[in-house]
Amino acid sequence: MTTYRAWRAPLLHCIADPDHVGIEQSYQYIEDGLLITCGDRIQFCGKAEDGLKNLPNNLSVTQVENGLLIPGLIDTHVHYPQTDMIASYGEQLLDWLERYTFPEETQFADANHAGDVAERFLNELLRNGTTTALVFGTVHKTSVEVFFDAAAKRRLRMICGKVLMDRNAPDTLLDTPESAYSDSKALIERWHGQDRLHYAVTPRFAPTSTDEQLAVAGRLLAEYEGLYLHTHLAENHKECEWVQSLFPESQDYLDVYDRHHLLSERSVFAHGIHLSDDAHQRLHHSGSAIAFCPSSNLFLGSGLFPLSSACQHGVNVGLGTDVGAGTSFSLLSTMGDAYKTQQLQGQSLHPMKAFYLATLGGAKALRLEDKIGNLAIGSEADFVILDYQATPLLKQRLPRCQSIEEILFTLMILGDDRVIKATIVAGEPIYQRDKI
Ligand code: GUN
Ligand code: ZN
Repeated sequence: MTTYRAWRAPLLHCIADPDHVGIEQSYQYIEDGLLITCGDRIQFCGKAEDGLKNLPNNLSVTQVENGLLIPGLIDTHVHYPQTDMIASYGEQLLDWLERYTFPEETQFADANHAGDVAERFLNELLRNGTTTALVFGTVHKTSVEVFFDAAAKRRLRMICGKVLMDRNAPDTLLDTPESAYSDSKALIERWHGQDRLHYAVTPRFAPTSTDEQLAVAGRLLAEYEGLYLHTHLAENHKECEWVQSLFPESQDYLDVYDRHHLLSERSVFAHGIHLSDDAHQRLHHSGSAIAFCPSSNLFLGSGLFPLSSACQHGVNVGLGTDVGAGTSFSLLSTMGDAYKTQQLQGQSLHPMKAFYLATLGGAKALRLEDKIGNLAIGSEADFVILDYQATPLLKQRLPRCQSIEEILFTLMILGDDRVIKATIVAGEPIYQRDKI
């Protein structure tokens, strides 16, 4: 039997990129809105006065007071195995990997440990209103199996993959081109396209893969439809120099991936801070995306992502938390960090553009905009209820806002997991803050 649900609330969602159509035309805000779900889909999204006339079978309506209903947030780059090592002190990328990350990831050979972290990671996403993410596993096949198992139980739309890494890491974390191929293939055949799950071929970054292994990644992409390619790119200066010395024949960092046919409409490169105009053009022409991870970039001292330049070149950009280098699972707080990153470059990030990056822009980066990213009729019913009275400070500050744009800005500067009152996935409320 199909379940219908109705929510009466102020509704906010993006319908286009603010850079393309201007701020006013990029979003829809309905102060007295109604959202009706039918099973796992959105059946109606509009004004309450219109929707209430056609409510199916006297359906009861959940009334949202002092809050806002928005689409589920989308994290385009995060590492689930780094959940427990968040907030590790004092290093930049390459030392941070050696000192904290590699030892942490070694533990994921143990399926019980991996399963426990996967459950807690997904709980954390839902507490923060994130309903879809592009997720790194570890080199261990089992790390991805337990992750997909946990995501499937909750009917989440998730993308994950086994890390490919055959050099420049501790021996216990290395695979080979052959095992990378066979393990990835088995995972793809088991999970890719199952309900709401997708597979991402996941070389960690150029320094930890040989040319032979990057060729395996290209081969997998050519063999299966709809796979993602997920990796890191040009995050840190020392990393970029290292890549030049490891791949002297490549024109630049991006070229290492390009030579192995890893640039595609489903390729997502985390960071992309230190790139030339030419690299931006290649990303644009191939339809690839960058995951902008401001909290991580500030935490590791990696640099300031040139958002305006990437957007001017027509590169698809989504927002990523990059936990555990990122310091929060909250995309609201990551939007705040994106704003501050732009401030440091003499640019202002409009709250609606930040919101776009965390919703419809993220969906476009992942080529999922026909399914998620806004509240369009027919979309999948993944959405979040925000609470305007979540903290004493918000209770005082929000009533002074004159517009939804100001409210959104205040929420991204002051908001975090406390603001998320409920998270609905495929039509089902699966997280409710006030129900313990
Ligand atoms: N580059 C290669 N591996 C990693 C990682 O785990 N985190 C980040 N932020 N950058 C990387
Ligand atoms: Zn990362």
